[in-house]
Amino acid sequence: MSHLFPNYARDEIDLVVGSGSYVFDQNGTKYLDFMSGIAVSNLGHHHPKVMQALSEQSEKIWHSSNLYTSNLQEKVAEKLTMGKDYLAFFCNSGTEANEAAIKLARKATGRSKILSFEQSFHGRTYGALSATGQPALQAGFFPIVEGFEYLPYNQLEPLKQHLNEEVAAVMLEVIQGEGGIIPAEKEWLQAVAALCKENGSLLIIDEIQTGMGRTGTFFAFEAYQIEPDIITIAKALANGIPVGAMLGKSGLAEAFGPGSHGTTFGGNNLAMKVADAVVSEINQPEFLAAVAKKGSYLKAELTKLIVTSEKVLDVRGKGLMIGIELDSAETLQQTIQELKAHKLLAIKAGKNVLRLLPPLTISQDELADGVEIIQAVLSN
Ligand SMILES: Cc1ncc(COP(=O)(O)O)c(C=O)c1O
Repeated sequence: MSHLFPNYARDEIDLVVGSGSYVFDQNGTKYLDFMSGIAVSNLGHHHPKVMQALSEQSEKIWHSSNLYTSNLQEKVAEKLTMGKDYLAFFCNSGTEANEAAIKLARKATGRSKILSFEQSFHGRTYGALSATGQPALQAGFFPIVEGFEYLPYNQLEPLKQHLNEEVAAVMLEVIQGEGGIIPAEKEWLQAVAALCKENGSLLIIDEIQTGMGRTGTFFAFEAYQIEPDIITIAKALANGIPVGAMLGKSGLAEAFGPGSHGTTFGGNNLAMKVADAVVSEINQPEFLAAVAKKGSYLKAELTKLIVTSEKVLDVRGKGLMIGIELDSAETLQQTIQELKAHKLLAIKAGKNVLRLLPPLTISQDELADGVEIIQAVLSN
């Protein structure tokens, strides 16, 4: 009998060892990892630079406190803000990064409304859950936080109608991840950014799944030539050591003065040392160009399935964040099990989308192996 709450529908495999693009279960069975712990292990498993950072810091000090100066936090913040006019706040997870973003937006603007989008996912704590445009995830947890409205994604008219002087922020994912790998259209996102500016509302971009090089640029929004007011990241920031961050324009600093917001663990020495190594590794032009190239190959190969497989309706996404829309939720469940039987791990998104998130360090040969397995399973 399990002693755990049944809030996850868990598969029976227990992944006990990881190495590069492979993971091994409790029976020693080896799987090609096409999910990276849901976009967390972007540098794969057992990466030498990550291992070195972790072991070096573990010999020094793990945790000090945000009551003291942190040169490690300063270092990571400098790398994440990339010479632009942003400041960083560190926390422990994606949902906490979004909580910080929502609080900062309300306090800095003095406005209360947050507009987000249908089928979005921003986290499970009350603020982030309230921003999440999925009624099924909110069911049973009412009352949620007041002041959130959900609009159709990729549509401009409803946004124009709802954007008024009460709106503190518009919050969105550049590619909706949990919602089904749905990319924002470029014109739409650029118009959203312009409308926010005009209206004095802040634009919060949730890069928790799309960031850290996942789509072939460090942040996915970079491909849209927009400048968000607030950016949230987590997941791959320390390749599996829990950490999150909110980056916000320096003009918002006054709203987050001493004592206004905080966390005990956020940005602790161990997480920051690893984050420093991870950001340095990923934010290199050659590394990002390789992700884009591998992503183009993956998408091009899988797109062929739209013609060759009756089960495949669409192939979407960018870089190494690809969704294959299947003809039904049943096909999706069956496909995930068949891929597992062929020793490849992939996950779902939305109701009927197969989500592929291989480590960004995956080799071309490993990627080709994965493509072969997916094509074989979906061509049946
Ligand atoms: C886009 C997005 N935002 C927020 C979150 C929440 O992050 P966490 O699970 O670390 O709280 C997730 C997690 O899947 C996510 O994909």
